[in-house]
Amino acid sequence: GLPAKVTIYEVGPRDGLQNEKGIVDTTVKAEFVRRLLDAGLPIVEATSFVHPRWVPQLADAADLMTELMTDLGELGRALPVLVPNERGLERALELGLRHVAIFGSATETFARKNLNRSLDAQFAMFEPVVSRARDAGLDVRAYVSMCFGDPWEGAVPIEQVVSVGKRLLDLGASQLSLGDTIGVGTAGHVTALVDAFTAAGVGTERLALHFHDTYGQALANAYAGLRAGVTTFDASAGGLGGCPYAKSATGNLATEDLVWFLEGLGIEHGVDLGKVVATSVWMAGELGRPSPSAVVRALAG
Ligand code: HMG
Ligand code: MG
Repeated sequence: GLPAKVTIYEVGPRDGLQNEKGIVDTTVKAEFVRRLLDAGLPIVEATSFVHPRWVPQLADAADLMTELMTDLGELGRALPVLVPNERGLERALELGLRHVAIFGSATETFARKNLNRSLDAQFAMFEPVVSRARDAGLDVRAYVSMCFGDPWEGAVPIEQVVSVGKRLLDLGASQLSLGDTIGVGTAGHVTALVDAFTAAGVGTERLALHFHDTYGQALANAYAGLRAGVTTFDASAGGLGGCPYAKSATGNLATEDLVWFLEGLGIEHGVDLGKVVATSVWMAGELGRPSPSAVVRALAG
């Protein structure tokens, strides 16, 4: 049967805003995060401590986190942030943050494009990040990108994804988020990938699924994931998102689409749909374009 309860891991402020052409004001970002928390989202990934030249959209990461901690105290410190390397971790530690996420690639080409490292060299970059973070008592999530297909390499073999994912978990990450960065995955492929992790000894309680909706498959893929036993799903309010270093990556699975779908199945999620829709409508106004989410458009009235 299906799980009774699902955790929605909100990535809009990070995966969404990292891909915007314009730079959103720090105060608007802070308001976005606060509204998402107020809508009941249990985890809101706030920003990235990456090189500001690589992702200028998130160059204000320290200011944003300082503002959020001033407003929210411990709740602000607990918001996860991406850190690719030791420099990123140091920036997060200076602020006293508690949750970080590393982001690896399942393919050679994307490792080079996104991390300026070979597939193998990415592990050497992440190893001290995870060990130092854990020593400092932080929790570390690990993403794997290009788990289904890669715009340069085509289809990505399942064994390659499992191998990269296991290496990231072995470094000491608590959870692995499997990313369909360019949204080419389909439901049967999701089932096969989750089953391959299970067969390799990685239980579904350690997995999360991270879908982009480029081909309109994200929700069908989430259903396949649910049926395979996964209970954590990444989503982005209003369907914002994409990766600036991945050709043809568009928006993430919209949080509203996921919530509507879970409602229909009677699966507990703790999120107030109306509040997320109102937040996405407000954010669309800030960004100057409508949300791509069908649920947002239907409910916005
Ligand atoms: P690099 O140029 O190889 O870095 O970039 P380096 O280690 O050679 O250092 C060069 C300079 O950068 C040094 O400064 C460092 O201090 C500085 P200099 O001495 O020359 O003055 N530097 C930094 N400054 C601030 N913060 C840092 C940092 N690191 C180095 N963290 C690096 C390597 C990994 C930093 C770079 O490639 C990078 O920032 N990449 C980030 C790309 C990115 O953010 N992509 C989007 C997120 S991933 C994603 O969206 C996928 C996901 O959603 C899942 C999915 O959908 O698949 C998660
Ligand atoms: Mg993503």
